[in-house]
Amino acid sequence: MIICIGAGPGDVGYLTQRGAELIRDADVVAGFEAVLNVVRSLIPDTARVISMGYRDQVEQLDKVAVEHHAGKKCVVVFMGDIHFSGFQYLERVERACGHPVESLPGISSAQILASRAKVCFDETTFITFHRRGDLEPFKRHLVHVLQDQRNAIVIPCPWDAARSFMPWHIAKYLIEQGIPASQPVEVWENLTRNEAEWHGTLAECAEREVSDMSIMLIRTMAPMASQIEPPPVPA
Ligand SMILES: C[S@@+](CC[C@H](N)C(=O)[O-])C[C@H]1O[C@@H](n2cnc3c(N)ncnc32)[C@H](O)[C@@H]1O
Repeated sequence: MIICIGAGPGDVGYLTQRGAELIRDADVVAGFEAVLNVVRSLIPDTARVISMGYRDQVEQLDKVAVEHHAGKKCVVVFMGDIHFSGFQYLERVERACGHPVESLPGISSAQILASRAKVCFDETTFITFHRRGDLEPFKRHLVHVLQDQRNAIVIPCPWDAARSFMPWHIAKYLIEQGIPASQPVEVWENLTRNEAEWHGTLAECAEREVSDMSIMLIRTMAPMASQIEPPPVPA
């Protein structure tokens, strides 16, 4: 048996009760080291821990798959929620196992951000640049989202210089694409741990570096749908 679970945004208090139960009952717990550290206190002494990084994840997931096919109860922990910026890793788990696997949602950094910054999901688009492959379609989508006067919650890409698309790169790109330099933006770091929040304009964001553990909110300047007066009812 194998299940992928969202470990939440960083503080173990945000892990779901079902997720905690599955970890406590597991024979094997696998994941990136930083995510394993979130749930470490729940992993039984008897469990095998399979830790991995970006470079060895395929080989390490093959080891998890062997345990799964041998009948062990395996849990793979994901940062936040699997369903936002987690699917490429989920696909790697499924490739290693040779079949679709079950998943359990977790609380995403996007949900914590929405709660802290009071934004409504209905009026917000979620975009991640923390992904392999061509980022261009996602960049264009972000521009369209803002032109359509929707909020955007954006996960940046912290990888090497060739791919890095961090908040300051995103801000510069948006200004180049014609989004006003005065557009408000927020950057939140280390949500649920050592939180830091910053509010400014795209122009200011373009000049300011932040840590990898950051998430952006670009809030539409249009009124929320709930604040728009309905048209008068004809007499
Ligand atoms: C591969 S994505 C995974 C996102 C995760 N699935 C989620 O739902 O939050 C990792 C990126 O999410 C963002 N992130 C995750 N947790 C965060 C937190 N607690 N505070 C701020 N940003 C966070 C960071 O940009 C980090 O590099």
